[in-house]
Amino acid sequence: MRVGEAKFVAASTRPGQFPASELPEIAFAGRSNVGKSSLLNRLTGRRALARVSKTPGRTQQINFFAVGERFVLVDLPGYGYARVPKAVQEDWRRLVESYLATRRQLRAVVLIVDVRRGIEEDDQLLLDFLGDHGVRAVLVATKIDKVGRAELQKRLAELRSSAVLPFSSVTGEGMTELWQVLSDAVARR
Ligand code: GTP
Ligand code: MG
Repeated sequence: MRVGEAKFVAASTRPGQFPASELPEIAFAGRSNVGKSSLLNRLTGRRALARVSKTPGRTQQINFFAVGERFVLVDLPGYGYARVPKAVQEDWRRLVESYLATRRQLRAVVLIVDVRRGIEEDDQLLLDFLGDHGVRAVLVATKIDKVGRAELQKRLAELRSSAVLPFSSVTGEGMTELWQVLSDAVARR
């Protein structure tokens, strides 16, 4: 897919308060620090579109980025960071669940996991939530540049019960395949 220019359109911090656009949306979810913002930056070719953080749990809002007036990429705040206070975790849950359960133009959620860790408990809870709400999930295993080829094959085989797309924000591996899946999701209802 030819990608038009991506630009920030809005941030949302409150359940139910999302931008009025009706363009198809693809959301990106995953544990805190897994590499969501890096993946978005890599995908859009904008190094500083989404803020990449050294501090896990930094992104506490939902950020919306329009791509070429055709669809919108949505950076969801990460979950599972133990040092985030309980009250903040609860706010996170309300905000993200409100978005996922009510956003009618949401075409797919890209669930990003660290290839070295695979699907963890919080990830599975999100997958179950998406299943319950009829939202398509696309599984991406990122940071594949961190493992050797043999280990990569082993990790991917462990994940293969579900289709998984290997990816690296450092090398750009997996970009073409991910864009293919995303453009299919945008085109479908
Ligand atoms: P929060 O917004 O805090 O939940 O984090 P995030 O999921 O958006 O992660 P972010 O993109 O900020 O990346 C976290 C750290 O992982 C940064 O230090 C990145 O440079 C690093 N990182 C992200 N993707 C990759 C990757 O594919 N390979 C390698 N080696 N490092 C990566
Ligand atoms: Mg982030």
